[in-house]
Amino acid sequence: MSQFELTIELNARIGRKYDKPKISRWENGREPVPADVEAELNKMIAKQPPDARAIVLANQKGGVGKTTSALNLACALTRLGKRVLLIDLDPQATATAGLLADQAIEVYRQGKTMVQVILRGTPLSEIIIPEGQKLSGGRSTPFDLAASHIELSETDSKREPGFDVVLREALQPNRQRYDWVILDAPPNLGMLTWMALAAAEEVIIPVRTEPYDTMGVGLILGTINKIQRRLNPALRLTGILPTQFDRRKSVDREVLEHLVASIGSRAPVLSPVPNSAVFGHASRDGRIVVEASPSSSAAMVYSNLAKAIANGTPLPRTDAALVASEAAEE
Ligand SMILES: Nc1ncnc2c1ncn2[C@@H]1O[C@H](COP(=O)(O)OP(=O)(O)O)[C@@H](O)[C@H]1O
Ligand SMILES: [Mg+2]
Repeated sequence: MSQFELTIELNARIGRKYDKPKISRWENGREPVPADVEAELNKMIAKQPPDARAIVLANQKGGVGKTTSALNLACALTRLGKRVLLIDLDPQATATAGLLADQAIEVYRQGKTMVQVILRGTPLSEIIIPEGQKLSGGRSTPFDLAASHIELSETDSKREPGFDVVLREALQPNRQRYDWVILDAPPNLGMLTWMALAAAEEVIIPVRTEPYDTMGVGLILGTINKIQRRLNPALRLTGILPTQFDRRKSVDREVLEHLVASIGSRAPVLSPVPNSAVFGHASRDGRIVVEASPSSSAAMVYSNLAKAIANGTPLPRTDAALVASEAAEE
């Protein structure tokens, strides 16, 4: 809160007409703060909501469900009444295109994308597309959006001191406005993924239950480890999120079992998202599964995960014993 906002709020609360110079004198100790003012200020501080926590969906592999998970988690958290900002950091702009369709071009023309924030130093607040705001094509988004554009791919060739914390810096003054910030990372371990990991409190790694895909998990875990050591000790590995899981296929069950056995001690393996046609249907209609088909089993996985995240309760995990017993039944 700025000193100006504080002055207005304080006067409104206790029916006085203190001015800014007066508050400055209190702040630098040149005048004692009246007891009733101090009590009111303490109440105001206590009432300030905590800063938003940022969750990044990351994996160097494409097609594993990063964007799908980012959209569904953002939407599910919004449906729980949370204030959400989704930041699309993938130059391929899949999330942006899904949400804005042909309006994405208009948004880019207006200079309202992450290109401005990352490459030109524009404040993040200036490019955010607010939830519900109708764009010219009649489109609107269910949560606040920081859009992406292909030009963001120039990030990897730019050098500047401390460049990897540019996103963290840009996000900081906006954290009071949100409960959750969801970051959709690109399919590589380049600068944009580093920036996302450096800015976030939590990381979720979506992985398809395919043998080849799970072999790559070590790579992203290694990157997360370096970021934790060198840039962001507060970063927590929230879990591995198995996606496109087909319970009927023995190879999928084996891969899931293997994931829990090999990685389970380093990171929780969350309840798998089933392979389901609802995702294709929803994206064809420009919608998000948790709002388009909320009662589908795929939507339930995302909404249960969002509920646990929002409430700070233990996240739903893969029950390895159950998977193994199903495999044995065949
Ligand atoms: N659980 C799922 N079942 C079926 N299809 C899915 C599932 N999750 C994602 N998809 C589809 O897989 C494709 C890639 O997903 P996406 O989220 O874009 O991956 P990424 O962002 O990691 O590249 C998309 O067409 C998406 O609709
Ligand atoms: Mg993606």
